Amino acid sequence: MTDYNIGLIVGSISSTSINRRLARALTKLAPQADLHLTEIPIRDLPFYSADNDLAIPDQAAKFKHSIEEFDAIILVTPEYNRAVPGVLKNALDTASRPWGHNSFAGKPSAVIGMSIGAIGTAVAQQQLRNILSFLASPSLTQPEAYLQSREGLITDDGVVTDEKTTELLISWLNALHEHVTNSLVLVS
Ligand code: FNR
Repeated sequence: MTDYNIGLIVGSISSTSINRRLARALTKLAPQADLHLTEIPIRDLPFYSADNDLAIPDQAAKFKHSIEEFDAIILVTPEYNRAVPGVLKNALDTASRPWGHNSFAGKPSAVIGMSIGAIGTAVAQQQLRNILSFLASPSLTQPEAYLQSREGLITDDGVVTDEKTTELLISWLNALHEHVTNSLVLVS
């Protein structure tokens, strides 16, 4: 199988983020699906403003360039107040502009997330899929992966301690590989 380089955006800047743990777990498991994950940081992005469209801030330009360089993008999202966290929405707004320079256009993507709530970021993930659809990014639709956090499920350094969760993540990564292959065929 072809290997793909995938950019990873984590929608939390919390130092104790459970979604960062999930991102580390995905990064460790990804080579089993011939994927190689590298984080694209969003912590230092300025708030998006149209005032800066003619002179894009360095961090924003670097961020946009990174997205464009990868074969696909994974968004690992928490759910804050039944919605996409502000830091992640800001990152997507930054990537989408200036008008005509949408870094997500045609870029395959996939959404996953973990919360302490039973529905495991389902609402935030669906919002993200709507946004990605508007950004013309073909997003993986199935399988969905809604993870509920529990003590010890994923260690700080990204080791998944439960076999079923490991299997779910590997099958999700395999589906992403197939999605990237199919999406890249469509645009080439
Ligand atoms: C939450 N949390 C939460 N959980 C959930 O399942 N649905 C929700 O709507 C919310 N809302 C919410 C709002 C805010 C402001 C915070 C800080 C938290 C709980 C959330 O799942 C938990 O804090 C996770 O640890 C957040 O993910 P990160 O930031 O640790 O990756």
